[in-house]
Amino acid sequence: MITEREFFAKLYCFSAEVRGLHWLRALLIVALVVTGFYLAKPFLTPSPALEPVNFQNSLVRFWHVVFGFGLMFVVIMRIFLFFFDEHSRRYERASFRDTLSLSSWGKQLKYYLLLGSFERKGAYGPLQHVAYMILMLLLLFQVLTGLILHAANYHDGLGGVLGTLLGPVTVWLGGLTGVSNLHYIIMWLLLIFIPIHLYMVYWSANINPGGSTEPMFSGYSFKKIPPKV
Ligand code: HEM
Repeated sequence: MITEREFFAKLYCFSAEVRGLHWLRALLIVALVVTGFYLAKPFLTPSPALEPVNFQNSLVRFWHVVFGFGLMFVVIMRIFLFFFDEHSRRYERASFRDTLSLSSWGKQLKYYLLLGSFERKGAYGPLQHVAYMILMLLLLFQVLTGLILHAANYHDGLGGVLGTLLGPVTVWLGGLTGVSNLHYIIMWLLLIFIPIHLYMVYWSANINPGGSTEPMFSGYSFKKIPPKV
């Protein structure tokens, strides 16, 4: 028996580098939040010993800084790909056409209120694009404040260079206490972003199956083509 066949268009969305950096960034943020919470309030202490050998805080700080430098690499690579990857010009950077158009903002809002459809010109709708740009700025600022905190304890080598270079920024941000507070506040802003991001991915996957979570795994989105009559 011949049943009706469905056809799908396959659209190349995210390269392997972009997907890899996305998942690496997600893992690093989780690791940095866990170790960061400990550094903000070291709630665990090792069993007491007569010798000063239980440098637990230093161990957590060490891993926090290792993950931090990992995040710095990921953020720089991601910004590089956004601006210089040829595919990004046609897909990610093309989103600026919607972001700078007032009518696209209106259509997107209607789409979120389930009052209309919205055909994006690039990878992201205007609100999503702006949210991701703010996320990138927050991450850049988190790296900057993290480097200042790192340099405060390491005065040789890279720490010395960073300390000298970022000295004026440290003063401008209210000294090391101000920097530490900002680093902590940005963590909370990231923690607010994560559930909203997950909810929007879930919401969009329901409205638009094959076009939301799928591209970040396989790189492709799938769109149903209406049958020819
Ligand atoms: C998602 C990213 C990050 C989060 C959520 C995060 C979170 C935190 C938190 C909550 C603290 C404790 C703040 C305080 O009370 O003083 C902290 C401290 C610190 N962070 Fe981060 N951080 C992140 C990224 C980074 C990066 C990129 C670096 C460096 C490259 C870094 C280096 C440091 C250093 C050196 C400290 C101070 C540790 C100490 O001596 O007490 N962090 N971080």
